[in-house]
Amino acid sequence: MSPFQITRTLPEDATDAALRADVLQGLTATPKTLPPKWFYDAHGSELFERITELPEYYPTRAEREILVDRAGEIAAAAGARTLVELGSGSSEKTRHVIDALTDLDTYVPVDVSESALTGAGQALIAERPGLNVHAMIADFTAPLTLPDSPGPRLLAFLGGTVGNLLPEERAAFLGSVRALLSPGDALLLGTDLVKDEEVLVRAYDDAAGVTAAFNKNVLAVVNRELGADFDPGAFDHVALWDTENEWIEMRLRSRTAQTVKLPALDLAVEFAAGEELRTEVSAKFREEGVRAELSAVGLGLSRWWTDREGRFALSLSTV
Ligand code: AVJ
Repeated sequence: MSPFQITRTLPEDATDAALRADVLQGLTATPKTLPPKWFYDAHGSELFERITELPEYYPTRAEREILVDRAGEIAAAAGARTLVELGSGSSEKTRHVIDALTDLDTYVPVDVSESALTGAGQALIAERPGLNVHAMIADFTAPLTLPDSPGPRLLAFLGGTVGNLLPEERAAFLGSVRALLSPGDALLLGTDLVKDEEVLVRAYDDAAGVTAAFNKNVLAVVNRELGADFDPGAFDHVALWDTENEWIEMRLRSRTAQTVKLPALDLAVEFAAGEELRTEVSAKFREEGVRAELSAVGLGLSRWWTDREGRFALSLSTV
């Protein structure tokens, strides 16, 4: 069998149905919302890659620092023969863990982007003879059946993406992750940490305007996929810190009163001048909160590592 396999767990039109349902629900709700997963078409993924290189956007560099420094410890603690990565994207940071896992047999990257999976998977098998890559085109928030591969498994969910889920969604997600793990398996979770408000807001409202373009890209996605007539220039990018919930919110603020048509949904949506559409929540964590959320699904926190500046954390839970 080829060392590279790719499985699509959802029919191609499932994405389309999910987008329609999310847009219909979100744009008819008060306040209006759109889920952040729709940012990531090819252009959005490219904008996100540029975000990770911005001077203001520290999480990627902070997490990479931990992975570089701790890959040996992570690998020793997990001893995994299968590494599953949810939301793997380019798999760039994960390489440090892959390289340190000497007994690794199978890498299972899970992502909605087929192009990212193919690119990263092919590069990996070329460099690591004997490694099997079983890529899965899937939405990590949907139920997942993992391919048959040897244990123990290490399941990695990096980048702080768990913070893009709302608290209830997060609890459900962590519960389903827990259900994928057997005794001897482990979870490696990346979480961005609570810090100075200015630092946080700048990370989501950079001087070059890349995050603003990323935020507005969701409107281009809805235009293309649902034939809508959003004018991205008629919205302003907003990033704010919610002190109570300890999360960053990205919003798009309508510059004027306007009506947007969405023919595929047979819908017209009115925006008042100044009305805001919430496009992303990015929760920031504290060690005690992460411990409590893991404990609520029956997972213990066995290791907690941060970068030297204490901006970002990786935690390891063993089952
Ligand atoms: C890396 C997907 C978690 O919330 O920081 C970056 C995405 N949004 N800038 C984050 C993002 C705005 C991001 N995740």
